[in-house]
Amino acid sequence: MIPETTGPAAVIVLAAGAGTRMKSRTPKILHEIGGRSMVGHALLAARSINPRQLALVVRHERDLVAKQLVDLDPDAVIVDQDDIPGTGRAVEVALHALDAHQPLTGTVVVTYGDVPLLTGSLLAELVATHERESNAVTVLTAVLDDATGYGRILRGDDGTVTGIREHKDASEAERLIREVNSGIYAFDAAVLRDALVHVTTENSQGEKYLTDVLGLARQSGGRVAAVVTEDRWQVEGANDRVQLSALGAELNRRTVEAWMRAGVTVVDPATTWIDSTVTLDEDVRILPNTQLHGATKVARDAVVGPDTTLTDVVVGEGAKVVRTHGSGAVIGADAAVGPFTYLRPGTVLGDTGKIGAFYETKNVTIGRGSKLSHLGYAGDAEIGEDTNIGCGNITANYDGEKKHRTVIGSGVRTGSNTVFVAPVTVGDGAYSGAGAVIRKDVPAGALAVTLAAQRNSEGWVLANRPGTRSAELAQAATEDSSSTQAPTEEGKQ
Ligand code: UD1
Ligand code: MG
Repeated sequence: MIPETTGPAAVIVLAAGAGTRMKSRTPKILHEIGGRSMVGHALLAARSINPRQLALVVRHERDLVAKQLVDLDPDAVIVDQDDIPGTGRAVEVALHALDAHQPLTGTVVVTYGDVPLLTGSLLAELVATHERESNAVTVLTAVLDDATGYGRILRGDDGTVTGIREHKDASEAERLIREVNSGIYAFDAAVLRDALVHVTTENSQGEKYLTDVLGLARQSGGRVAAVVTEDRWQVEGANDRVQLSALGAELNRRTVEAWMRAGVTVVDPATTWIDSTVTLDEDVRILPNTQLHGATKVARDAVVGPDTTLTDVVVGEGAKVVRTHGSGAVIGADAAVGPFTYLRPGTVLGDTGKIGAFYETKNVTIGRGSKLSHLGYAGDAEIGEDTNIGCGNITANYDGEKKHRTVIGSGVRTGSNTVFVAPVTVGDGAYSGAGAVIRKDVPAGALAVTLAAQRNSEGWVLANRPGTRSAELAQAATEDSSSTQAPTEEGKQ
């Protein structure tokens, strides 16, 4: 006896349709929602029920899809559909490919590559029902208000499923049926194999319909049944970009809700977007207008937002990230970032550190407790611990041809508007004066200043900008100071 934990013999994911309504150079199933392509979602759901084999049937833009499959699911078998159209043909070629090794026995599940909200648990329920009832075919159905375009579920007087009628082939009466075929099924492999041989293209679309298998299975004495889902989103496909965005919004609603149930505070779910690939700890707080993408991870007690977009960013425990646009960065525990901060790839901010307002960083490692509080750029640099980088500092890392590194030690204090002309190294505990242009290495503990003596040309404005508001005010100030100084000078005499 096969243990219960064993999954079906195979899942066949259909993705050979043209998808022309997307009006896109990108194949339909590679369009993304929730940070993952539609076919990525479909393959994850398929894989989660632990099939012994997994096949993806393709045709249009085949090579683009095949290239992605290597990352999405390297163990999936790619199968090319031929010129014969229809879902039945798609399954037939897949079955043929999978049987080549050893004829499949047991349950074969069919799903679509463009139905991204289908969950593994609903698929598992379909398989469990199918196997418990020893069905020849079990179809996943939903009852819709508007069933236009879908295949309709035909049932006998006793309620048993007798077949599926495609919309285009349906009579007026049949078109009133609101129970529709999702296109997702569990089949007995032998029944499927035998029936497909007899499926023809004699219908209004000239296609080999997979749906014809239901009638054929019944004729040969098999039991056909349905699992009706209340959750129509799980069987909904995206044919155009309007449906894609509706599915994306619903997926996001579900993702955000799941995180709230897992202990994350989301102040405004309507303006919070969280990819399916993101992970959050308990007691994270997400403020309005925040988008978390890719491999972003946020640790306990961190606060992200408002108005923040993070892609592949790791946020440490208790950190605060406000009005920030970041990608490929690591933010340490209890660190502070923002507002109006641009973190570019390779930024690593140590625990309790700070990257403040109007800062851009790239490829920089900042040690524990170091602060870059206001207005500047730090790129291709390494900064030690407990260093304070003054307002308006920049690393001049680019000489017009090559990028160079700046190394700044620990306990350093830099004056406002210091420019580090890389390559350059500043030792531990060093200081720089305001406006210093650091072209030479600064030894530990030294003060670096680049002084050009200040020269004041008295009366320059009155002479060169006569009649301006500046001249007027300068004149008044000069008169003021001479009239207040005059008595004093007289008094001295
Ligand atoms: C199909 C079903 C219909 C069901 C609907 C649900 C058939 C005959 N009809 O209709 O009962 O209500 O799905 O959405 O099965 N595909 C291939 N090869 C092909 C044709 C399609 O792989 O030759 C794939 C598509 O990429 C897609 C899926 O099969 O993922 C469904 O194709 P689509 O053309 O959308 O199916 P419908 O004819 O709308
Ligand atoms: Mg079709």
